[in-house]
Amino acid sequence: MALCYNNQVRYKVQKKLEDIIKNRGIEDVFVLAIETSCDETSAAVVKNGREVLSNIISSQIDIHKRFGGVVPEVASRSHTEAISGVVNEALNAAKIMLQQIDAVAVTYGAGLIGALMVGVSFAKALSYALGVPLIKVNHIKAHVAANYIINPDLKPPFMALIVSGGHTAIVSVTSYTEQKLIGSTVDDAIGEAYDKVARVLGLEYPGGPKVDKLAKNGKNSIRFVKSETLKNSFDSSFSGLKTAVINYINTKKQRSEELNVEDICCSFQTEAVEGLISKTIRACLENNISTLVLAGGVAANSYIRQRAFEECKKHNITLCVPPLVYCTDNAAMVGVLGYYNLMAGEGIADDDLSAVSNLPL
Ligand code: KG4
Ligand code: ZN
Repeated sequence: MALCYNNQVRYKVQKKLEDIIKNRGIEDVFVLAIETSCDETSAAVVKNGREVLSNIISSQIDIHKRFGGVVPEVASRSHTEAISGVVNEALNAAKIMLQQIDAVAVTYGAGLIGALMVGVSFAKALSYALGVPLIKVNHIKAHVAANYIINPDLKPPFMALIVSGGHTAIVSVTSYTEQKLIGSTVDDAIGEAYDKVARVLGLEYPGGPKVDKLAKNGKNSIRFVKSETLKNSFDSSFSGLKTAVINYINTKKQRSEELNVEDICCSFQTEAVEGLISKTIRACLENNISTLVLAGGVAANSYIRQRAFEECKKHNITLCVPPLVYCTDNAAMVGVLGYYNLMAGEGIADDDLSAVSNLPL
């Protein structure tokens, strides 16, 4: 059912918006943020764009585990069941009353359409009831904004390497609200490749963290053939590598040969990460950018973090890496970007806001 603002609500929202801008820097701005793009139901309260007062995450991992991956319909249902409680918990943890909220920010894409719709509908209803602005937030950009939480001095311009289950991109962050795509994957996202390799190895969903752990005790001893066509580009590809690993595992199994799972994880991970790190460093150097941030779920990976640290040190680039809780999906990052969108007068949504599954950067 469509939710239409009546004139009274529209006037109230407009007035609130004007008050926020007029009192900028004088009065605190509290943003309530909602994130439901995949398998985490999350709500957060963020003060003045940088201070996280609460960040509640209800993960569905245990629900999806038995299916070996996220089942979209199950995800939507679980979000519907959890969202009200998660939002209440976020308000309680922040010691903030609903009436103190100045704006509601919500992830409207990219992600699973049904899952996104739960968050968007809830946020719309809240903004309507409170008479406060509704701010739409791009999930991929929000991952980058997570870095503002723990780096008080970080400000654009800088370069970002976004690595998640759905995206792999190198972007130039030119302002708080604008990001320019430098390169991206031409096929699978890096997280997808991690999860697929893990699945073929019989590891539980989500496989990325398990591959990371096993790789620590392995050797980079297996050469997985990868396409060289993107060598000089900022784009990358992971589907060829993924297929090479799967073929290797299947051939070994057919021959009843023993698999060295740790070596497979280490060799796959080295191949997947090395090219990406060298492209990212080259992007920084060629664009004269001296700060790099990591973003997205795969930024939790210990090898990516280690290699980014080593290469940045070598090339005199300042590296920012979010703590693990801000790498994977969370509403705090949505609240941060929501605040900057609000202040820039961008992304202010109306009652016709819809979820967009394949929203570009
Ligand atoms: O950003 P995210 O939480 O969700 C998306 O927006 O996609 O990323 C989830 C992805 C999954 O593919 C998961 O396996 C991967 O991040 N991941 C990791 C690690 N922790 C999470 N991959 C490799 N190593 C990790 N330590
Ligand atoms: Zn994400």
